[in-house]
Amino acid sequence: MSELDPGRLLDRLDTMAELGRTASGGLTRTAYSPADITARNLIARWSTLEAGATVRLDAAANLIAEIPGTRPELAPLVMGSHLDSVADGGALDGTYGVVAAVEVAAALQRSGRPLRHPLRIVAFANEEGVVAKPFTGSLAITGRSELIDVGETGPDGITLSARLTAAGGDPAGLAGAGWAEPVAAYFELHIEQGPVLDAGGIPIGVVTAISGRRRAQVVIEGRSNHAGTTPMDLRSDAAVAAAHIVLATEAVAREGHTEVATVGTLRLRPGNANVIAGHAVLSVDIRSVDDARRDRALDELGRRIDAIAAATGTTITVTADEGSGAARCDGELMNLIADAAAGLGATSVELPSGAGHDAQHMTALGPVGMIFVPSVGGISHNPSETTAPADLVQGAEVLLAALRRADDR
Ligand code: GLV
Ligand code: MN
Ligand code: MN
Repeated sequence: MSELDPGRLLDRLDTMAELGRTASGGLTRTAYSPADITARNLIARWSTLEAGATVRLDAAANLIAEIPGTRPELAPLVMGSHLDSVADGGALDGTYGVVAAVEVAAALQRSGRPLRHPLRIVAFANEEGVVAKPFTGSLAITGRSELIDVGETGPDGITLSARLTAAGGDPAGLAGAGWAEPVAAYFELHIEQGPVLDAGGIPIGVVTAISGRRRAQVVIEGRSNHAGTTPMDLRSDAAVAAAHIVLATEAVAREGHTEVATVGTLRLRPGNANVIAGHAVLSVDIRSVDDARRDRALDELGRRIDAIAAATGTTITVTADEGSGAARCDGELMNLIADAAAGLGATSVELPSGAGHDAQHMTALGPVGMIFVPSVGGISHNPSETTAPADLVQGAEVLLAALRRADDR
């Protein structure tokens, strides 16, 4: 008999799905938005009332819930994920891991068999990077706040500094949010967001490694002019250059320079049907489980972009971020998760994560284990993102069992 309350887990995921719901049935719960803060407050309330947690916000507006163990001198066991979403994304990406962590902690509280280790639940702020570069919360906690640019403005012109302040954080105090002590283990439960588990009919994925990523902003300066009077050979068309860059980005990955590469945003100005675009801005997202390979692929794309600038008579600037490094999950925790799944009668398979996760930063503080559950049709970052209820419940049960095993180590 499960120690968890499966009905409540599923109800709470439904409750969370209402916070930021869009007309298409998806979720736009941008980091630090009112919906994100309401979601965070609910997690705080549930953790306090049902898991006996003491909650606090840190300078990065991460919510941290602490539950004492019977051996306070031990390093904490940590569970976490994020509550923010991409624009018109799905309801489970991130949120599942946080809600399940609270339910696991509540089940431990009810069981009368507390853990030896102190337990911590973290709802990391701004994992997705819609309004400012991703991973603000996990960078701060892992002592990398120098990589956070509080002056960065989102598409609405608001600075990260202003967002942090409004969300209860402290932009000037980010360095103080770093955890000084290592953790005994960090677990993140997440939907797979890809097709492997669903296609294979396998309920549990044991993550081996998490891809690293770099993002670049590409700015193209051409010359806007009349679409009817400007001969084709006298144009400096930013839209044409942008189109070539989209195809070059695809080609770099398809030719095997890296695993995946994507242009996800593209804006043309001035944006009239009868005017040649004089200006374009686009984003490149490029990923690999091998950081050096990803960096070489970005260099290769840069060379192709130089050639595109020359061929289209445009000026193109590429500004790449530092990116996030690929990370390996801990071998012992991988075995422990697979054993926990087997103990519950669930088959599991090892697989890498193409998506980024706060877990990749948490490797700086100790061993990391990630548990995946199937995404129906392999769909995510999309309103139709979903997972079968039984799989959601089983993933949380594996998290609980893995946590108990980690506590016994
Ligand atoms: C985070 O969700 C990512 O883009 O991988
Ligand atoms: Mn995501
Ligand atoms: Mn996520």
